[in-house]
Amino acid sequence: MKKYFAMLLAGMMAVSLVACGGSSTASAPAEAPAEAEAEAEAPAEEEVTEEETTAAEATAETTEETAEMTTVEAGVLHMATNAAFPPYEMISDNGGFEGIDVEIATEIARKLGLELVVDDMEFGSVITSVQSGKSDIAMAGLTVTEERKQNVDFTTSYATGIQVIIVPEDSDILTVDDLANDKMIGVQDGTTGYIYCSDDYGEDHITSYTNGAMAIEALKGGKVDAVVIDNEPARAFVAANDGLKILDTEYIVENYAIGVSKDNPGLCEAVNNALTELIADGTVQMIVDKYITAE
Ligand code: ARG
Repeated sequence: MKKYFAMLLAGMMAVSLVACGGSSTASAPAEAPAEAEAEAEAPAEEEVTEEETTAAEATAETTEETAEMTTVEAGVLHMATNAAFPPYEMISDNGGFEGIDVEIATEIARKLGLELVVDDMEFGSVITSVQSGKSDIAMAGLTVTEERKQNVDFTTSYATGIQVIIVPEDSDILTVDDLANDKMIGVQDGTTGYIYCSDDYGEDHITSYTNGAMAIEALKGGKVDAVVIDNEPARAFVAANDGLKILDTEYIVENYAIGVSKDNPGLCEAVNNALTELIADGTVQMIVDKYITAE
């Protein structure tokens, strides 16, 4: 049991490397039981409370090196997403799914010997779909937040997202500060844009829509004064709609990662290792470059 203290401590110390609920990524050394015992006697461990210990132990019990990788359906990797978020996930002209997340997930599935199946749903359902064992991974330009970490384990991050502000070209909203001037802000349900804006400006100043495109329609129709959404979808929406612009001021910078069920540490490790390799060998960058042209 003591070695789990050490694993936990090692995880806590290597914050930037942490993925999959506290176990470290491929680059961290596997624990040596003898050393771990010694480390576990170290005073630093006093920080670990009784409750955390129990939780850590429970996780560690199932994250032994041999942790099994299971998927909802044999031979398949089910990806929960909301395919209304270009260029990360969208429906292609022929009715299939495409985008950065879809292609990265396809490569991950290939590495794991699985076939990718996209489960398209409302954004607010992607985490619960993984939690309830309906999908294997949540990949949806999904921002890592402390609250979401309570519900799913996250892999290492594969992209940065920035919450930006879209306004009509002739808007009197010039910077993020102007949002506080009794404006109405359109956001997408369940997103970090929604969370930040409702915290900063109050629910009364927020209208949330099922997807970004609907928020954009509301903006064009004058129902809201601004839309707060991630930068790349923002660029796609502004390119597809006349009369809109993105403010230069960035609102919040975030990291995207893949969410995996806390009950399936073996899968999280496997997905994380595959993703780490795809980042290291340039595949992720190649996919990103296919969809995102430099500004
Ligand atoms: N990054 C934001 C979040 O995680 C928005 C993601 C929306 N994604 C989507 N596929 N609709 O909350």
